[in-house]
Amino acid sequence: MAFNCLDIRCLCIFLIYTAFGYALSSDTEIKVNPPRNFQIVDPGYLGYLYLQWQPPLSLDDFKECTIEYELKYRNIDSEKWKTIITKNLHYKDGFDLNKGIEAKIHTLLSGQCANGSEVQSSWSEATYWISPQGNLETKIQDMDCIYYNWQYLLCSWKPGRGVHFDANYNLFYWYEGLDHALQCVNYIKANGQNIGCRFLYLESSDYTNFYICVNGSSESKPIRASYFIFQLQNLVKPLPPDYLSLTMTNSCEINLKWSLPRGPIPAKCFIYQIEFTEDDTTWVV
Ligand SMILES: *[C@@H]1O[C@H](CO)[C@@H](O)[C@H](O)[C@H]1NC(C)=O
Ligand SMILES: *[C@@H]1O[C@H](CO)[C@@H](O)[C@H](O)[C@H]1NC(C)=O
Repeated sequence: MAFNCLDIRCLCIFLIYTAFGYALSSDTEIKVNPPRNFQIVDPGYLGYLYLQWQPPLSLDDFKECTIEYELKYRNIDSEKWKTIITKNLHYKDGFDLNKGIEAKIHTLLSGQCANGSEVQSSWSEATYWISPQGNLETKIQDMDCIYYNWQYLLCSWKPGRGVHFDANYNLFYWYEGLDHALQCVNYIKANGQNIGCRFLYLESSDYTNFYICVNGSSESKPIRASYFIFQLQNLVKPLPPDYLSLTMTNSCEINLKWSLPRGPIPAKCFIYQIEFTEDDTTWVV
């Protein structure tokens, strides 16, 4: 008998629960709007872009709640989205401007404010693309940047294949801390054309993105710009040791000594490679 009674009670609870659950999902479904005015802003920093938005409409219902945003972005042909969750109304990151950029964002309402389960708005989307000028053939080729001895940055390139002799290239650069993009002041030239840049002393430019744009102009046709992002500490090429001395202590022992390369690189960062030959034909490392 007691067993039957329990059964009925369970059934009742079950019925009440389903009726209540149904009412929640159909009549009082909680919705939140997507962020407004989502846009990708280019401040002219050669790849460092601002993603910004405004809070969604009708937030009054959720005054006590924390609103968060889930932001996803990528260069258009890359497979992976980067995902950021933030309470802010902007986000900044570096992008490869040789390609387009797409981004999307939605509002998140935490479970506490939405009867247990997190609520997401629909997506707001934005794209950004520097409309390309000139054809691909006019882009510079073989860009090569070396940060000699962690002190002097030098970049060089070859002119595009499809350009006329009147074409010339200009290099602009920016990194966090500069007010605006700067142009190279010390070009390396060949036949009057700029084919490289020697940079002046670059203050606090390591361990941060270093953005470069090489564009150009020509009377005959537009030149396609190229964009690069480097981290200077990854381009360092040390100097050779300052001096090398070789002494023979006896007929079968040679001593080599060398000194640290001059400059700012700490001694502990260096390893050395010695190559020698005894018969002028085979070198041993
Ligand atoms: C959440 O559920 C409670 C009952 O548990 C209800 O009173 C309230 O209206 C619901 N909130 C919203 C926003 O629907
Ligand atoms: C090259 O890029 C710089 C920096 O973005 C810009 O100020 C300049 O107008 C561009 N020049 C050409 C010819 O597009």
